[in-house]
Amino acid sequence: MKIACIGAGYVGGPTMAMIALKCPEIEVVVVDINEARIAAWNSDKLPIYEPGLLEVVKAARGRNLFFSTDVNKHVGEADIVFVSVNTPTKTRGVGAGKAADLTYWEGAARVIASVSKSSKIIVEKSTVPVKTADAIEKVLRRNCTDPNVQFEILSNPEFLAEGTAIEDLMAPDRVLIGGKDTESGHAAIATLAGVYEHWVPKDRILCTNLWSAELSKLTANAMLAQRISSVNSISALCEATGADVQQVSRSIGTDTRIGPKFLNASVGFGGSCFQKDILNLVYICETVGLQEVANYWHQVILMNDYQKQRFVERVISAMFNTIKKKKIAVYGFAFKKDTGDTRETPAIDICRGLMADGASVCVYDPQVEDEQIYQDLGTEKFEWDHPSPRSRPISKTAIDIASNPMEAARDAHAICVLTEWDEFKTYDYQAIYDTMVKPAFVFDGRNILDHQKLRDIGFIVYALGKPLDPFLQKHYD
Ligand code: NAD
Ligand code: UDX
Repeated sequence: MKIACIGAGYVGGPTMAMIALKCPEIEVVVVDINEARIAAWNSDKLPIYEPGLLEVVKAARGRNLFFSTDVNKHVGEADIVFVSVNTPTKTRGVGAGKAADLTYWEGAARVIASVSKSSKIIVEKSTVPVKTADAIEKVLRRNCTDPNVQFEILSNPEFLAEGTAIEDLMAPDRVLIGGKDTESGHAAIATLAGVYEHWVPKDRILCTNLWSAELSKLTANAMLAQRISSVNSISALCEATGADVQQVSRSIGTDTRIGPKFLNASVGFGGSCFQKDILNLVYICETVGLQEVANYWHQVILMNDYQKQRFVERVISAMFNTIKKKKIAVYGFAFKKDTGDTRETPAIDICRGLMADGASVCVYDPQVEDEQIYQDLGTEKFEWDHPSPRSRPISKTAIDIASNPMEAARDAHAICVLTEWDEFKTYDYQAIYDTMVKPAFVFDGRNILDHQKLRDIGFIVYALGKPLDPFLQKHYD
């Protein structure tokens, strides 16, 4: 059997590497139009940072795992074609700011149709709006000239999270396969399930109809993001009342109906999926006339924006309502730990917010490339429906990036922790404090540091959703 995967990104690369590792008799080729990305997959410096990924790639690469730019050849030869291209939010035209942009998906479908000489199973790996399979099937059928070629479309959304992709792929909570309720649909589902059965227990492979599979992916991300916005909303209430959001999370998380995961209050969720997929869900609801349902999910994003803005305002008001020309060290730019990905990272809005008030921000992140930070802060950000004066692009000369945490904090008035990197917990904060301007502040947007220890050193500490320091209280009352 031959598998081709169109799209060598955060999903296509790791998922195909895992399939190749676990199914040595299957040839797996990951193809992409981006030559630099393919070259990186063929090197020891992979294009994405993901713990454990290099080992998996090295074990299968050259054996039955290949990365290539020859899209036509490998798609043409494959029995199963996974499509794992990007499906970002549309930035122009009808539905701009909400609807999914399916340009890349449609482009991939046209290529499949034009190069196919044999029947194939087409697997939607990308996250797509419900009913996309219908549209793709039309593109495939109308563009394939060979009457003997049949396409069977399956939806097989990916649930891996960045930073834990290999663990998630190795032992997934479930694999979801949606297909048509026809004989050929059932056969295609069985073929794809057979691939996963090499390492995933049968009872974890869930089979549904196409539309349920497509909608389940959007719903899962909306529900996960909703938990974060819910707990973040409570973090604001905790600060106003003296309650402690970590104690509240622990207390409610022990209720087995709620569960302990995804209850960490933060500066806001980021990543390439949550906002995009909720906006997509909102758009679908609006197009089918369910405005109340759309409003309900929209609020999850509004709360996320509020949380980022609230953090910036806390920093400004704590530092005597002026941060002009004050150096602020930002620890962490990635949207979560163990990744170098910065897509939709809350750090973008927070850095811009601080800089809009005149602060001189110095960023340190253990993984994110400097060029990525310049690009993220320096490029016009598409504001989906709320253009903000705080979110203007910053010129490269105004952005300071440090190569280590000491350098970032030297002569700074404050440290803002925006990503929960483990190494941030291990620093010598006394040594850091000694180099800072006094009073020295720590704003812990992830609640990962030992706040009492920091206070004993002399820091004034703001910890998100925790009772406020008396020093800070004075300025808010
Ligand atoms: P990505 O941008 O990292 O990778 C997509 C790749 O597809 C790019 O390298 C691009 O060059 C390539 N591509 C686009 N059009 C192509 C074409 N016609 N032919 C060949 N290559 C083409 O995106 P990603 O993060 O891997 O996400 C892919 C999909 O998976 C999205 O729909 C996303 O919503 C979904 N998803 C992402 C994650 C995640 O954690 N990133 C998790 C689950 C699902
Ligand atoms: C998410 C989904 O978890 C995954 O199933 C889907 O396939 C892709 O989207 P990802 O975005 O990679 O994965 O990371 P995730 O762990 O979900 O974190 C998303 C954001 O939420 C991060 O910014 C993270 O810091 C934040 N988060 C997560 C919180 O603020 N609090 C939490 O309790 C959990």
